[in-house]
Order: sequence, then C-alpha cells, then structure tokens
Amino acid sequence: MGDLEVMLEKFRFLTSGESHGKCLTAIIDGLPSGLVIDTDFINSELKRRQQGYGRGGRMNIESDTVEITSGVRFGKTTGAPLTLVIYNKDFENWQKIMSAKPEDESDEKSFTAYRPGHADYAGSVKYNHKDLRNVLERSSARKTAIETAVGAVAKLLLKHYGITCYSNILQIGSGTSEEEFHAEIDKAKEAGDTLGGKFEVVFENLPVGLGSYVQWDRAIDGKIAQAVMSIPAVKSVSFGNGQHGYKIPGSQFHDQMYSENGKIYRKTNNAGGVEGGMTNGENLVVKAVMKPIPTLRTPLNTVDSSNMTETTAHFERSDTCAVEACAVVAEARIACVIANEIMLVNPADHL
Ligand SMILES: Cc1cc2nc3c(=O)[nH]c(=O)nc-3n(C[C@H](O)[C@H](O)[C@H](O)COP(=O)(O)O)c2cc1C
Repeated sequence: MGDLEVMLEKFRFLTSGESHGKCLTAIIDGLPSGLVIDTDFINSELKRRQQGYGRGGRMNIESDTVEITSGVRFGKTTGAPLTLVIYNKDFENWQKIMSAKPEDESDEKSFTAYRPGHADYAGSVKYNHKDLRNVLERSSARKTAIETAVGAVAKLLLKHYGITCYSNILQIGSGTSEEEFHAEIDKAKEAGDTLGGKFEVVFENLPVGLGSYVQWDRAIDGKIAQAVMSIPAVKSVSFGNGQHGYKIPGSQFHDQMYSENGKIYRKTNNAGGVEGGMTNGENLVVKAVMKPIPTLRTPLNTVDSSNMTETTAHFERSDTCAVEACAVVAEARIACVIANEIMLVNPADHL
C-alpha cells in the first residue's frame, strides 16, 4: 500500500481537440481490466450535456457520440490505455479554417476584439496570438464534451463499487423552480442577455475515508473544488451548507452524531459529506455557481487588439444559459476525482 498511499493519480487522463477542429480525444490511463464499458451509457451522458433550456444553435448541429479506439475488447477494458473520440460534425464547414497545413492559411473567421469574460486577452498575451481564434478554439467549453465522456467511464467504475450520483439546478437568475428558470431564460434571451445559475451535485454511497488530512494536496474537498472550479464559467464551489457557514453558529452547523444498532448516523449534512479532507460516509454534496455566459447578442464594450481602439465584442453563436449542461460536466469531473481515490484504496489491476 505504501507507494500508492502517496501517489496522487492512478486514474488519469488527458484531452485534446478544438471547438471547430476535427475531433475531441481523451486517453484514460490506469483503468483495471474487466470493466464493462457500456457505450450507450457514455452516449446518454453526452446527450444530457447537450440538453437544457437556453442552449444555442451549436447543440442542434452536434449530436455527440463517442468512438472507442483503444483499451476495450468485446465490451470490457483490457487494462491498456482507453482512447475516446468525439467527432465535431461542424468540422465539415471549418476544414480549411482549422487546417493544420500552412498552405491553407487565411484570415477567414479571424477576430481581434477581445471578448470580456473569455480567455481571449490573457490567452493572446500568454501564447502570443494575434488571431484570437487561436485562443477561442481550445478555451471554448466544447472540450467539456470529451470530459463528460471520460466522466461517464469513471461513473461506470464507480457503479462497480455501488457509488451513484445526480445533480439538481437550484437557481437561475431569480428563479427557483423549473417554470421560473424557463421564464428567466426567455426574458434574458429576448433582451439579448445571458444568465448563470447555481446547481448541486450529489454522490451517494461513498466509503468513509477517501482523501486524507495528512497533506494539503490529498484533501478530497480540495481536489473536488479544483475539478469543479476549472470548468469554464464556474466561479464558486462549496460543500454542503458551506456557503452559509459565516452566519450559522457552531451549535447548528456541525452535524452531530448519533448511534443506532452499532451504526453512526446524523440528522444533518451541513459538511456536505467531507470532514478533515475525507469522505465521512454521508452524501457528498457539492454546490457551484456558474457565471452568466460571456458572449452576448448585445455585445459588451471592449478593445480591438489590432489598433487598441474601443469597440464592442465579437459575437459568435452562443448559449443564453448552460447551467444544466454545466451540472452534468461537474458530475463527470467529480466522478473522475472519486474514481481516482477509489483506485488508490483498491489498487486492482483487474476486476
Ligand atoms: C457547458 C458550457 C457551455 C458554455 N457555452 C458557452 C457559450 O455558448 N458561449 C459563451 O460565451 N460561453 C460559454 N460557456 C462559458 C465559457 O466557456 C467560459 O466562460 C469562458 O471559457 C471563460 O472561462 P471562465 O469563465 O472560467 O473564466 C460555456 C460553459 C460551459 C460549462
């Protein structure tokens, strides 16, 4: 156990691919052999990510499905790296624009006005790009499609250990019910505006003791916060009732412990299932806020990088609200963190 105890990553993956490139790809390393890979389940997760009230035109073009090109034989993992590919249907309209060949270079679809709220400004400085298209293509949330596919594989592993999850939308604008969400989104769309929202992700049936208190980078709440916070447009992450912790006295905040038939139980879960950087056997409850979509039909003030004059931001087909999709992506990201923790304590090469 010694080596694995200090190892931080067992289930690991990298993704690649651009918003209008040929495809999105992920390689997952570290899976045990013998895991049943249900492709229909992965595709149903991709479909969930594409849905939700307030999505833009792009989602009508794409109908994401995954192709598995390595690591699975006759429906089961072999223990070799598993490769997932999602092809971008829109690529057929962008072949020349996204070409890797130098002879295809043109300024079609180039733009130079920074979009506030996007990666454009910092990305262009960091990677020295004049054409902001080079920043947009990878910083776009399109890459969350392949992350959702990776998360679906993680969920299949977690299912093997009896762990399941779901998510709920808690608030969009000032709306707190589905009917109100739709009305808020309609109102924003009509005004050429956008909305964010608040959602929660819940994981059930987790064992006690995933994560650790012994080093800062092994705390599971820290790992989950990183995984959720780095989803494009997520601006706040909290656990359980953590966001209200400043106004609730300790006597009411902490989840008191009781015993029945030799088992500990609690009447509250304000900690959201994590104490001391470890799962405590209660449901893991992660809450997050997605900021409003930064591309507006009524564009924001900005600066054109080509001549430093003031202008308005570049508009490209966009969502009005993508909170439902964001919650699905958060499920996937958290599933990857938990799959990794499960594999650190169950270091099986085969199931
Ligand atoms: C599922 C999902 C869909 C998104 N769709 C859009 C979109 O259509 N238009 C847009 O401007 N931003 C969209 N975003 C948000 C941007 O990708 C994000 O705000 C931007 O990349 C800057 O990252 P940051 O907000 O984390 O700083 C979406 C985010 C997610 C998670």
